[in-house]
Amino acid sequence: MKKTILWGLLVVCSWAMHVSRVVAAGDPEAGKKKFYTCEGCHGVAGYMNVYPSYHVPRLGGQQPGYVVTALKAYQAGQRKHGSMSGASATMSDQDMQDIAAFVSKFRGLNNDLPVTGNAAAGKEKAAACASCHGENGISRDPSFPTLAGQYESYLIKALQDYKAGVRSNPLMNGFAAALSEDDMKDLASYYASQKRGLTLPLD
Ligand code: HEC
Ligand code: HEC
Repeated sequence: MKKTILWGLLVVCSWAMHVSRVVAAGDPEAGKKKFYTCEGCHGVAGYMNVYPSYHVPRLGGQQPGYVVTALKAYQAGQRKHGSMSGASATMSDQDMQDIAAFVSKFRGLNNDLPVTGNAAAGKEKAAACASCHGENGISRDPSFPTLAGQYESYLIKALQDYKAGVRSNPLMNGFAAALSEDDMKDLASYYASQKRGLTLPLD
C-alpha cells in the first residue's frame, strides 16, 4: 500500500514537471514573428526542395521538443541541409523554443495528401513504430516527431537518410537499417494518408 502511494506520487510529480517544462518553454506570439522568414518554404502548400526533389516538411502540429532538437541538429551541423543550416545559424535557444511553441499549436483534421505507396501494407508495418510515434503516427511525447499528415516524399527521404547514415540517430539508424525501399514507401504512404496530423503553420 505504502509502495503504491509512493509510486503514485512519483508518477504525478514527474508528470507535473514534464507538463510545466513544456508549457513554460516558448512564447507562441514571439514565435509567430520569428517564423516570418521560414514561411517562404514551410508556409507554402506542396513546396518542394529541388536537388534532390522532395517536399519541404510540414511543421504545423509537430511536437515542440522535436522541433527544438531538429533546429539544434542543423545549427550544430549534425543534420545537413544548406537552407536549414543558414536558417538556424544565428538562432538562440529562446528563438527555437518560441518557434516550436508557435508551430506546435496547429492541427490538421482533414488532410488529403496524395500517396504512391501501399498504405494498407504500411499500416501493418507501422505496428513496430507506434510505441514512439504514437497510434496512427500522432506522437504523445514532445521528443518524438509526429509522422501523421507529413508528406510521403519527405518521410521516404528521412528514412533513406537514416538508413544511409547521412542522418544520425541511434534509434532510427537501427530501425531504418531493417527497412527495404518498399517498406519505406508503404510506411510513408500510411502516415501521409492520415486525415488527422500535421499541417501548415498558417495563422
Ligand atoms: C529555403 C527553404 C527553407 C527555409 C527558408 C526554411 N526551411 Fe526548414 N526545412 C527546409 C527543408 C527542405 C527541410 C528538410 C531538410 C532535411 O531533409 O533535413 C527543412 C527542415 C526543417 C525542420 C525539421 C523538420 C523535421 O520534421 O525534421 C525544422 C524544424 C525547420 N525546417 C524549421 C525551419 C525554421 C524555423 C525556419 C525559419 C527560421 C526554416 N525552417 C526555414 C526548407 C526550408
Ligand atoms: C524507440 C522509439 C522509436 C521507434 C520505435 C521508432 N522511431 Fe522513428 N524516430 C524516433 C526519434 C527519437 C526520432 C527523431 C530522431 C532525430 O532527431 O533525427 C525519430 C524520427 C523518425 C522520422 C523522421 C521524422 C522527421 O520529421 O524528420 C521518421 C520518418 C521515423 N522516425 C519513422 C519511423 C518508423 C517508420 C518507425 C518504425 C519502423 C520508427 N520511426 C520507429 C524514435 C523512434
